[in-house]
Amino acid sequence: MRESSTTLPVIGAPEWEALRLAAVAAMRRAYAPYSKFKVGAAALTEDGRIISGCNVENAAYGVTLCAECNMIGELFATGGGKLHAFYCVDAGGTPLMPCGRCRQLLSEHRGSKMVLMTPGGIQTMEQVLPDAFGPHNL
Ligand code: THU
Repeated sequence: MRESSTTLPVIGAPEWEALRLAAVAAMRRAYAPYSKFKVGAAALTEDGRIISGCNVENAAYGVTLCAECNMIGELFATGGGKLHAFYCVDAGGTPLMPCGRCRQLLSEHRGSKMVLMTPGGIQTMEQVLPDAFGPHNL
């Protein structure tokens, strides 16, 4: 893992490529027989782990788990921590903007410098979910 002077992982082209590959690998394992819309999500944690998840649909459509939900499950199953960089892809491997619910989910576990790869390029969590509701509101 490459680290910056503040010990957070560096996020350069090699790291984005590793995340893209992890997201594509997860997307290929998606269970999406109803929508046929496969999604893969991957993130780099502040301590340098790469976690991933795919969407898992259900015959009771509303029970569907987004790729990001399963990725957050892996975040905690592998030790918790904060997200530092995030990449979500569709079946074509193209960056996908997380749905609103998943932006909220990502926001809860963001690190202070978290960035996302989006169809519009690299954006901060604040840009994709401004004025987010969070623990500070409770
Ligand atoms: N989906 C995700 O996995 N993440 C998103 O951010 C957007 C939507 C999934 C849910 C469903 O299985 C399929 O994409 C179509 O909505």
